[in-house]
Amino acid sequence: MSSKLKDFQFNQQSLQLNYEQGKLELTVLTPGIVHVFQDHGRARNSYAIEGNKQQKTKVNVFDKGDHVELETAQLLIKAYDDEKLDVYDSLGNPLIIDYRGSRQPLASDLDAEHRKTVLAEGHSVADELHHESHYYEVVKTLAADEQFYGLGDKTGFLNKRGYDYDNWNSDVPQVHTEATTKLYKSIPVVYGLKNGHPYGMFFDNTYQSHFDLGKESEHYYFYSAIDGNLDYYILGGHSLKEVVANYTYLTGRVPMPQKWMLGYQQSRWGYSISQERVEELAEKFEEYELPIDVVHLDIDYMHGYRDFTWDTKKYQHPKEFVEQMRKRGIRLMPILDAGVKADPDYDLYQEGLEQGYFVKNPDGTVYVNAVWPGKSVFPDFGRPEVRAWWAKHVKFFTDLGTCGIWNDMNEPASFNGPLPENLEFHDEEQISDHRRMHNVYGHNMSKAAYEGLKAETGRRPYVITRACYAGTQKYSTVWTGDNQSLWSHLQLSIPQLTNLGLSGFAFAGTDIGGFQADATGELLIRWLESALFVPLFRNHAALGTRYQEPWAFDKQTLNIYRKYLNLRYRLIPFLYDQFRHETQAGLPVMRPLVLNYDHDPQARSINDEYMVGTSILVAPVVTPQTTKRLVYLPAGEWIDFWNHASYAGRQTIVVDAPIDKLPLFIKANTILPWGCKTMHVSDKPDQIMTFRVYGECGSYMHYQDNGLDFAYQDGEYNEYYVEVDENGQALVELTKHGYGPNYQKIYVETADQRLEFNYDEKSGNYRQK
Ligand code: GLC
Repeated sequence: MSSKLKDFQFNQQSLQLNYEQGKLELTVLTPGIVHVFQDHGRARNSYAIEGNKQQKTKVNVFDKGDHVELETAQLLIKAYDDEKLDVYDSLGNPLIIDYRGSRQPLASDLDAEHRKTVLAEGHSVADELHHESHYYEVVKTLAADEQFYGLGDKTGFLNKRGYDYDNWNSDVPQVHTEATTKLYKSIPVVYGLKNGHPYGMFFDNTYQSHFDLGKESEHYYFYSAIDGNLDYYILGGHSLKEVVANYTYLTGRVPMPQKWMLGYQQSRWGYSISQERVEELAEKFEEYELPIDVVHLDIDYMHGYRDFTWDTKKYQHPKEFVEQMRKRGIRLMPILDAGVKADPDYDLYQEGLEQGYFVKNPDGTVYVNAVWPGKSVFPDFGRPEVRAWWAKHVKFFTDLGTCGIWNDMNEPASFNGPLPENLEFHDEEQISDHRRMHNVYGHNMSKAAYEGLKAETGRRPYVITRACYAGTQKYSTVWTGDNQSLWSHLQLSIPQLTNLGLSGFAFAGTDIGGFQADATGELLIRWLESALFVPLFRNHAALGTRYQEPWAFDKQTLNIYRKYLNLRYRLIPFLYDQFRHETQAGLPVMRPLVLNYDHDPQARSINDEYMVGTSILVAPVVTPQTTKRLVYLPAGEWIDFWNHASYAGRQTIVVDAPIDKLPLFIKANTILPWGCKTMHVSDKPDQIMTFRVYGECGSYMHYQDNGLDFAYQDGEYNEYYVEVDENGQALVELTKHGYGPNYQKIYVETADQRLEFNYDEKSGNYRQK
C-alpha cells in the first residue's frame, strides 16, 4: 500500500515528514551526520551515544513538488512518497538509495521433515531469523561496484559484501568461520563505498538485528530488526576517513590508555591455580630475557568462581603477592565474570538479592541459570544503581593493587540454555526485557568496571570485555573471544581487528597463538609477528591445550619470539603517539588499507595486510610453511624496514619471508620514534628518545605524558616536533612543555648519520651537539 508524503515541517535542524500512514524525522547533527527516526513506541535512550552531539549546522530544505530535499554542506537527502529516502554526497553522487522493489528471500528447500533429517547428522540449519518476517526492514539498492566494512568483530573477510550477519551477542566456542553469523559483539555500523563514494549507516537499535550485504540479492542489501524504533544515522564525508571520524564523533573515541597497556601480556586459563605457578612464570620471563608488563589471572584465582573474591588457600597474602609481582615489573589483571554464584553464604549474592539487583523472571523471582560457579544469577547492569553497586565492589581489586578488570561471559553466556526473552531487565530506571537489554549487557558491565576503577585509582582504567555494543570503546578495550590455534583464525584476526577499528574499537586484540586447540611453534611465531602493532598484545590459551609460552617449543621459536617482543617495546612510543592521534582524529590505530586509500580499487579487499596510522604497512605471513609472499603496496614510495630497499607503490611485489621475518614497509620520508630497549614499560619518565628517518627527510610530532592518569587533560603533556630536510639538516623542538619531565637527550638517525641533541635548561629547548 502506498503512503503519500502529505506535508513537512522544518524546525531546529529537524525535518518532520508527514506521510498518510506515519511520520519520519530527519535531524541534522552536523553537516556529515543525519539522524533518521521513526517512533515505534519503544524507549528512545541510546547506550551508544552520550551527550548532545548536535552542532549548529546550516541546512537547506526545498519543496520539490514530488519530493522534499534536505541539504547540508556534505549530504543531500531526498524524501519521496512511501518513506523512501535517497542520499547523495555534496557532488550529487548517489550513496544510499532506497530499494523500490520488494525483497525476494532466498528459496529454502528445507521442509519440516527434511530439516529433521539434515539435523540428524549434525549439520547446522540457518537461523530462523533469516527467513522470518521482520518487524521492520531497511532495504537499499546495491551497485555492482559497492563494498562493505565495519560491523565490529564479525567473521569472514574485510569486505563484507555477499555475507549476512546477526547482531545478538553470543558465546561461540566453535571455530569462527565465514559461516558464523554472530559473535560476542554487536556494533551495527556499516560503511560502504558505492562506486568509490564513501558513506556509513549506524543502526542504534539494541534488539536482535540482521544485516544482509548482498547475499540475498545482487540488487539490494538490507538491515532488519525484530523490534525497536527505526533509529539510524546517515554518515557522510569526503573520504572514508571522514565518515569513520563522524562515527567516532557520534559514539565516542577510545580514551588514552595507560602506556604499559601497550606492553606484552601473558595469559593462560590455569596459571592462577596457584601463586607458585604465577611466580614461576615471572621467573621464566626473567630467565629468558623476555619483556612483559601484564600477567592475566583467569578464573582460578577466585574462591569457587565467586566474583570479587580471592582463594586465600592458594594465595595466602594476595596483596603482598600482587606487590611482589609489581616489583618484578609485572602487573596482574584479574578476570571477572557476569554470572554471580547463587550461594546464600556469599555476601555479593546476598547484597544483590536484598537490593533486588538481579535479573528477574516475569513472576518477580530471581532468574537462575548456570555459569562457572554452578547456579548463577545475573546483575541487572542496565540499572544505574546496579552499576554503582558493582563499581563500588571494584575496590576489592584496587585495594589489592591489581591493574584492571577483564570482563568475561557477559553476552551474557549461560550453560543451561539461553536466557529467556521475557526476563525482566532494567533499561536505566524503566522496566524492560532481555530482548532489549541483551546486546548492551556487556556494555553496562564494562561501564561499571570503568567507573569503579576510575573513582578508586584516578588512573585511566584498563578494562577488557568480550561482549559489547557500539560506544563501549569509551569504557573498555576488547578481545575477540575464544579463537583457536588454527591458521584460519590467524587469517581472520586481520579483517576482524581492522573492522573493529573502523567500528570505533581502536584498542582490540585476539588471543595470540590461539585460545583453543594446540598451537605449533610456527603458528605462534607468525601470530606474534602479525600482532606486532596490535594494541592488545596478549598470548592466551585454554586449559588443557598445549602450552604456548615463548619457551614451550624450540630454541628458535624462543629467540624469534624475543626478537619481536624487543621490537614491540621499541615501537611502544609510536603506538602511544597513534593513540594520541586517535583521540583527536577519531581514526583507528590499526587500519585496513582501504581506510587510507579509498580511491584505490586494489586496496578495497585486502585481507592479509594492515596499516598502522598512515606510514606503516604490515604484511604478515598467515599460511604455514611459507617463506615468500606477495605484498600489495599502495601509492607512494615504500621502504623495506629490514634492509631499507625502496619500492614504488601501486604494485604487488614478492618478498622473502623466512620464519623470523615479518614483511614490514615504511612510507618513504617518514620519521618514527624508537624507544629504548626495556623489559617493562618504565614507571619513570624516559630520559632518551631516538627518532629514525626512513627516506631522506620528514617531520613528526611526538607526544609524551605520564602515561598513567588524567593530568594530560589539564595540559600536562609535552610535544616534540622533529624535522629533517633534504640536506640532512635536523631540527628538534619542544613545542609544548606541559609535563614536567622531558627527554635529556634526543637522537635523530638518518641513513648515514646519528645526530645528538641535548636539552638546554636555559632556553628550554634542544641544541645539536
Ligand atoms: C572464556 C573466555 C576465556 C577464558 C575462559 C575461562 O572462555 O573467553 O578467555 O579463559 O572463559 O575463564
